[in-house]
Amino acid sequence: MAGSLLITRIGELVTNAPGGDLDGAGGFAAVSDAALVVEGDRVAWTGASARAPAADALVDAAGRAVLPGFVDSHAHLVFAGDRSAEFAARMAGRGYAAGGIRSTVAATRAATDAELRAGLHRLAAEMLRQGTTTFECKSGYGLTVADEARSVALAAEVTPEVTYLGAHVVPAEFDGDSGRYVELVCGPMLEACAPSARWVDVFCERGAFGADEARAVLAAGAARGLLPRVHANQLGPGPGVTVAVEAGAASADHCTFLSDADVAALASSGTVATLLPGAEFGTRQPYPDARRLLGAGAVVALATDCNPGSSYTSSMPFCIALAVRDMGMTTDEAVWSATAGGARALRRSDVGYLAPGARADLIMLDAPSHAHLAYRPGVPLVHAVWQSGRRADLN
Ligand code: NIG
Ligand code: FE
Repeated sequence: MAGSLLITRIGELVTNAPGGDLDGAGGFAAVSDAALVVEGDRVAWTGASARAPAADALVDAAGRAVLPGFVDSHAHLVFAGDRSAEFAARMAGRGYAAGGIRSTVAATRAATDAELRAGLHRLAAEMLRQGTTTFECKSGYGLTVADEARSVALAAEVTPEVTYLGAHVVPAEFDGDSGRYVELVCGPMLEACAPSARWVDVFCERGAFGADEARAVLAAGAARGLLPRVHANQLGPGPGVTVAVEAGAASADHCTFLSDADVAALASSGTVATLLPGAEFGTRQPYPDARRLLGAGAVVALATDCNPGSSYTSSMPFCIALAVRDMGMTTDEAVWSATAGGARALRRSDVGYLAPGARADLIMLDAPSHAHLAYRPGVPLVHAVWQSGRRADLN
C-alpha cells in the first residue's frame, strides 16, 4: 500500500463533511488553514494545519484551495464526428432539435472501435485535467444492438458509471415505427448492453420518446438490474420528471421547463434534479431555474452533458461559472452540486466529500478559494488532482 501523504497549509479545504452518522456527503462545508492526510485510496484525517499528524510524504499547498474532485453525473462520450457546423448555424439563428443526434449516430456507426476508444480517452483525460474524478458515460449514438453493445463496453473501460441509452432517439431506419424500436431497446439491445451497464436512461421528450415508451424502457432496464435516470423536460414542458419520480430514478436531468407540480415532485422524492447549463449555453435556451428548485427543497446536481450536439464542454468549472452567473446559485451551492450533488445523482457515498473514509479524490486549485471557479471563468485553475489517493499526471 502507498505510504501516507499529508497535504498541509490548505487555504480553504472544501469538505462537504457529513454531520453525525450520515453516509456520504453533508451540506456545503469548508475550513480554512487546513490539512488533510491520505492513506492508500482513502482520506484518513482532516483538520487544522497546526494539528496535522506526521505522514510519509508532504505536499505544501501554500494557501491554495483543495476540493473534492468533481462528480460529472451526465456525459455522452462515446461518439464520432463533429457538429461544429450545426453549432455555428444555431448561433446564426437556427433552433436546436433532437434530430441532430442522427448525424452523430451515422458517424459513430461508421467509426472503428479504435477511433471511438481514442475519442473517449481524449475526453476522459480532458475531464481529469479540469478536476473531474468521477464521471458517468452514456451510450446512445449507436442505436443498433451491436453499436450500443460496443458503446457500453467501451464506456466500461473508463468508468463504473455506465448508462445504457438505447432510447436516445428513434433511428432513421425505424422512422414511423417507434413502437418496434422500443421493443428492440427493451429486448435484444438491453440483453446485449445490461452486462456492461449500471444505469438505464431514456430521452423523454417531444421528438424522442413519450411517457409510456419511457416507462417501458425504464421497467425493462429495472428487470435486468439497471437503475433508472431520465433526460427530462429539456426542450419543453412534458412528462419526463413525472416518469422519473414515479420510477424512483436517481436523477431527472435537464429540468429546464418545469411545472410547479414537477418542482414539488422532485422536492418530495429521492430523485435529484441534475442541471446541465452547458446545454442551455450551447443551444441558446433559457437556463433552468436553480433557485426555484433549491427553494422548494430539491437536491440539485450540476453536470456537463458533454456531447457533440448540445453541449460540447467537458468542463465542470465552466458549468459552475454558468450556474453562479446565470442560474442564481451561490458559489457554495454550485460547488456542492458539482461534487456532493453529482455523487447523490449517482447514488455514490464514497465521493463528493472529504472526510475520513471518503475516497481520496481531490483537486488543488491555483487559487485560494472555491469562489475563484466562478470568479475567474475560463481560466484553467486546476493545479493538481489526486484520484483514489494517487496524483494524476495532467499532461
Ligand atoms: O443531453 N438530450 C438528449 N441528448 C443530448 C443531446 C445529444 C445531441 O444533440 O447529440 C443532451 O442534450
Ligand atoms: Fe444528455
